[in-house]
Amino acid sequence: MCNLKFYFFIFCVILNFYHNGAARSGRRDKMADIEQQSKERQEEPKQSYKVLVTHPEVPKEALDLLSQVTEVIVCESLPPNRTEILEKAKGVHAFLWGSHEPLNDQVLKAAGPQLKAITTMSAGIDYVDVELLKSHKIPLGHTPIVLSAAVADLAMGLMLAAARRLQEGRRKIETSTWENYHINWMWGQDIRNATVGFYGFGNIGQTIAQRLQGFDIAGILYTTRHAIGEDKEKQFNAKKVPFTELVEKSDIIFIAAPLTPETQGAFNSTAFQQMKPTAVLVNIARGPIVNQKDLYTALKTQQIFAAGIDVVDSEPLPADDPLLTLPNIVITPHIGSATKRTRTDMAIVAAHNILRGLAGEPMFSPAY
Ligand code: DGY
Repeated sequence: MCNLKFYFFIFCVILNFYHNGAARSGRRDKMADIEQQSKERQEEPKQSYKVLVTHPEVPKEALDLLSQVTEVIVCESLPPNRTEILEKAKGVHAFLWGSHEPLNDQVLKAAGPQLKAITTMSAGIDYVDVELLKSHKIPLGHTPIVLSAAVADLAMGLMLAAARRLQEGRRKIETSTWENYHINWMWGQDIRNATVGFYGFGNIGQTIAQRLQGFDIAGILYTTRHAIGEDKEKQFNAKKVPFTELVEKSDIIFIAAPLTPETQGAFNSTAFQQMKPTAVLVNIARGPIVNQKDLYTALKTQQIFAAGIDVVDSEPLPADDPLLTLPNIVITPHIGSATKRTRTDMAIVAAHNILRGLAGEPMFSPAY
């Protein structure tokens, strides 16, 4: 079905991409490779594979790609409806999983034994029963890297909004308590000379670190399972440290780690007690990495200065959640990757994951 030499070349390009972690130029290369692949595919014969796209708003570019060589079935319900997904799953060969619905045994059983490939349209795969898929030898793709720039942009916004009290400032205006006759009114935290901590320092974390280079920060501390390598440590002026040192020494902390049993609840009352009272916490990863009750207490009692979070535990956050009563938190509704270009790129990567999975080849962005 496919030109093996071509795929070998693409595979080497991707490996190189991941190893270099090049965010901006890498992203361009990746999308150029994908466009080239798409042209090749138009010449391939249509197969009898069925692909279920579980979300009606998956960008057309991905559906067009899949339709070239497969029969595409698209779920219609919004928000995605599990009953519809399970009904339409029967007999499909692949899933383009467009929401954060649990992807588990129930789904595999609904599809049947012919299922050959699954991809998410997200970087995080915490809602997938990965061990189950592995045990069934079903390849899983996901869509990291292409969203790093958009997520990093939002992270910068949250950092600045929390450190400089933007939300609180707006409330001051709305309540006619604009009191800038005080010299010490609405003082925030400087980014300049800050020690910036990263809990998780993969592609998204490093893309944030690139953006921070214009802010004259003092340096970076990071806590990850694996060191990032000497070259990168030098490039970012970064040092790997244990978690306790990270929370004790950082002025600003970005959470940019996947949600796993190890990371769940890592930011709890113990961690908040160890943080500086001037610290700013930014979470663009997953809500449950932070114990939300403990975060509320830490912000309310000013154990830490402020937080900027794009993710909560659980989503959607109810309008009467106590966090929303606090002046020192900025919350956005999980919109890290929400730009037209990024979501389209994610969908295209997801489509290529499926096409390669169905061809029995390594996925474009394999999750394992
Ligand atoms: C991701 O890709 O994991 C983002 O959180 C958006 O879903």
